[in-house]
Amino acid sequence: MAIDNIVVGLDIGTSKIAVIIGNTWQGDPEKIEIRGVGTAPSRGLRRGIVVDMELTTAAIREAVSAAELMSGVQIGSAHVGIAGGHIMGQTSHGIVAVSGEGHEITQSDIDRAINAAKAVAIPADREEIMSLRQRFKVDNQDGIKDPIGMSGVRLEAYVHIITGAVGAVKNLTTCVNDAGMAVESVVLEPIASAESVLNSEERLIGVALADIGGGTTDTVVYKDGALRHTEVLSIGGDNLTHDIAQLLKMTPDDAIQLKHLKGCALVDMVDPSETIQIPTVGGLHRPQFVPREFLAEIIQCRMEETLNLIYQEIKKSGVDVPAGLVLTGGTSLMNGMVELAEPVFPCPVRVGYPRPLKGLIDKVNSPVYATGVGLVMLGSQNHHMTDGKSFIKGEDRFNQILSQMKNWFSDYF
Ligand SMILES: Nc1ncnc2c1ncn2[C@@H]1O[C@H](COP(=O)(O)OP(=O)(O)OP(=O)(O)O)[C@@H](O)[C@H]1O
Ligand SMILES: [Mg+2]
Repeated sequence: MAIDNIVVGLDIGTSKIAVIIGNTWQGDPEKIEIRGVGTAPSRGLRRGIVVDMELTTAAIREAVSAAELMSGVQIGSAHVGIAGGHIMGQTSHGIVAVSGEGHEITQSDIDRAINAAKAVAIPADREEIMSLRQRFKVDNQDGIKDPIGMSGVRLEAYVHIITGAVGAVKNLTTCVNDAGMAVESVVLEPIASAESVLNSEERLIGVALADIGGGTTDTVVYKDGALRHTEVLSIGGDNLTHDIAQLLKMTPDDAIQLKHLKGCALVDMVDPSETIQIPTVGGLHRPQFVPREFLAEIIQCRMEETLNLIYQEIKKSGVDVPAGLVLTGGTSLMNGMVELAEPVFPCPVRVGYPRPLKGLIDKVNSPVYATGVGLVMLGSQNHHMTDGKSFIKGEDRFNQILSQMKNWFSDYF
């Protein structure tokens, strides 16, 4: 009989906290049903990192209550996303001699090769938070996914290791715990976004995903079904808001409004005769009018910089991305983003929306929810039957989370 269960994704972003409650049946992604969504403005993060624990905890509580109200389900644990400039990804490889009879590769050879690949020096203030298998090489034959049973003398394993600042992970999980929720797993946010907006063919032939949120731009590159490159840049929609507020002299809240309503990333797409009204600080001065092109110039300048940084990351990965670049996260909703990006990248560009599931799909049908939906999808594949009320807190739980993340990610990939 099918097993159904509740899985919760908790996206703690710089702009908003999103809680997505899903129902899952035996981890089948086709059968996930969205039951409830709750959001709250996020004011306790800067560039993806918790800087005010009280504000973050309060916002998590608010988003959880809203999601519980919508779903009629009480939740006690969640799969939580992490990002921030402290995240670093590197590919490492390890070589072992195949030990068995007839040089047939066994699980123990694979484990030894992976352990050799993972034996890299990590600075004391950093911690391995995930390690994902990429591929194996048997003698001179590269690109092997599962070498068990193959014959060879030399086995090489390639592993992508993601590390983060120990304190940043701990602060994040403490906020979740303080909001009355246990942490089931911590997942790198762009990996969750990739799960919800990319399909397996894209990841096989080579694809890049850039999640441009409020505080960070997270880039991941996939090839042969494996993660090949990760980078979290401390730049995002907040930079645009700041630029607009500074240059057009308005409050950040007014700048956000204007950006959403009249923003455009490509000056050429704007009618040169169109003017926009600029709200004045405090509303006390005479309203000002400027050509809409001015606003577009500010946005284009910043978005060109961001897209170039993404391009550099793809180049750094050394991976061909014939399936193109997929932009997601709230800033990908900006008018003209695809048109601006297309000439920069020698590949197709599209905006990535979460893949359609079941249930309240219209509530999550936005790039803003790519991470939250992906957390539910990844969580459902690794979810075990629980009562959903395991409030485990403190040091032990932190260490438990780290080992849990390592385990289930290596299982998953
Ligand atoms: N229609 C729109 N046009 C332009 N920008 C938009 C639009 N909708 C949302 N944004 C911007 O997207 C950003 C928020 O995106 P998102 O919700 O993905 O960020 P986040 O996940 O909270 O932050 P991060 O992942 O960077 O920590 C904000 O800067 C917001 O102004
Ligand atoms: Mg985000």
